[in-house]
Amino acid sequence: MKNFTSDSLRETYLSFFESKGHKRIPSASLIPENDPTVLFTTAGMHPLVPYLLGEKHPAGVRLTDVQKCVRTGDIDEVGDDKHCTFFEMLGNWSLGDYFKKEMIPWSFEFLTSEKYLGIPVDELAVSVFEGDDAVPRDSEAAELWEKCGVKKENIYFLPRSANWWGPAGLTGPCGPDTEMHIIRKPKCSPGCNPSCDCGAFMEIWNDVFMQYNKNEQGGYEPLKQKNVDTGMGLERTLCIMTGAKTVYDTDLFADAIALLDELTGKHYQDDAETTKAYRIVLDHTRTATFLLGDTKGIVPSNTDQGYVLRRLIRRAVRFGRKINLPEGGLKKLAMVFVEKYKDVYPELKENEQKIVTELTAEEEKFSKTLEGGLKEFNKVITHIQGNVFPGKTAFRLYDTYGFPVEITEELAKEQGFTVDKEGYENAFKEHQAKSHAGSEQKFACGLADHKEETTRLHTATHLLHAALKKVLSDDVQQKGSNITEERLRFDFNFPRPMTQEEIKAVEDMVNDVIAKDIPVVMKEMSVDEAKAEGYLGLFSSKYGDVVKTYSIGDFSKEICGGPHAARTGELGKFKIVKEQSSSAGIRRIKAVLEKQ
Ligand code: ALA
Repeated sequence: MKNFTSDSLRETYLSFFESKGHKRIPSASLIPENDPTVLFTTAGMHPLVPYLLGEKHPAGVRLTDVQKCVRTGDIDEVGDDKHCTFFEMLGNWSLGDYFKKEMIPWSFEFLTSEKYLGIPVDELAVSVFEGDDAVPRDSEAAELWEKCGVKKENIYFLPRSANWWGPAGLTGPCGPDTEMHIIRKPKCSPGCNPSCDCGAFMEIWNDVFMQYNKNEQGGYEPLKQKNVDTGMGLERTLCIMTGAKTVYDTDLFADAIALLDELTGKHYQDDAETTKAYRIVLDHTRTATFLLGDTKGIVPSNTDQGYVLRRLIRRAVRFGRKINLPEGGLKKLAMVFVEKYKDVYPELKENEQKIVTELTAEEEKFSKTLEGGLKEFNKVITHIQGNVFPGKTAFRLYDTYGFPVEITEELAKEQGFTVDKEGYENAFKEHQAKSHAGSEQKFACGLADHKEETTRLHTATHLLHAALKKVLSDDVQQKGSNITEERLRFDFNFPRPMTQEEIKAVEDMVNDVIAKDIPVVMKEMSVDEAKAEGYLGLFSSKYGDVVKTYSIGDFSKEICGGPHAARTGELGKFKIVKEQSSSAGIRRIKAVLEKQ
């Protein structure tokens, strides 16, 4: 097997697929666009969902990229040797173009050829979908693998639980997959297979053959086009190729660990507790760096993505204390990550100042209260009868000392206690604070569905954006957008609350365009042409040179991936239901479309 660095592995993958006619596209943002189902981009396919469902991608039908991803469902597991909240996924896509008989031989070539990964064929096992009532057995995939040279005994037919890939949200494109595994040691029993967790197999790559759309009723409809979606975790593959035991032992973390050693006077492998603290500080700071440095960067707050970011930073501060990391350490670490990743993700360098400022502010804020909070925690816990930590105190730790409840839970768990979550939630509600989300899964519908309601609200968002610029100021810019079936949410820069008159003027202007029943026109053009023609280019350089633009008469012109309503007359009556502050200098509007 060949040796790799993270850079050479990325490059080898992307250039292999370029040699197969794929266009390299940059990573999309970590913050999903107009997708209310998840807080973060959790897989390479996620930003491509509209194209998997049939929208035309400006870069063509064969794409390859390395996508930054965040998954925080297992945030409390970070510290062991497997879990990370940030990772990169190498991927390639066929948007209604090639399918199994091209993809499987390519996967085989990339994995086994000396020119690429050079994994010996005998060390390769694959699994394919065994079939069930809804979808037949994937014998074709198995035959293709055998033809390539994979030994019959290394081809496993496994059930839906192992060989089916669905979207992060509840609806969307999905299908059977074939997974590729490295054989690492003898099977633990005759029945052992790649889904066994004895360590005999290690997954390296997943080819999904997307042929279905899961609808809201849980049924599977055939997709208009057959797609391929593949995902290879960069970190895991790097470990396999370099023999590193964990991702922390790869070049991705080498400089960061050296800096921590220097700052703390300790060493990563001193003892189990130190290793765990190092890993938490490393993982969480890396993720925070990417979230703050994203093109649609977020800042710590008490809701949604901002809350997760806050939780990550505060947990890093807490574990930083355990290894004597001096205050200001996180920002120094972040700068090391910026250097490490800046060539692949240039937005990190562009936003370095923001990363440093926000990390410093959050670290300072929490450092001030951490000590007091810990004292309070220790005082209360010594007086508890039984093993339940009171919810009211957990809320006080949050409200007064800035302890995310998950930190209190973790502290309690370390001493064999659980937190009365219900009591905490009740105390929280009493204070009428906004609710927050603790995992990516948030709402129960998806952009994946091109539901008419969401599509109409998407068009209404463009109208709102244009009207705000006309009524308030041309300096108004979109700072965020989130659409559910019921409402749109739109964040924009503006220094003060809007007046009732301004709100009414915006509503009237949007309703006027709706009443005129203007067609919504899509055109593809280069970024330069779009800019010259006055299209708003919020996400302009994301998909390379050619972009889609949507115009609504002369009223609204935006670069956007769609989808949109065909005419404004389909929208119904536009109504702003809330105008409020979102963060410093940012206003938030919630609006609905009422049936007429
Ligand atoms: N979408 C597939 C995955 O994330 C490739 O595993």
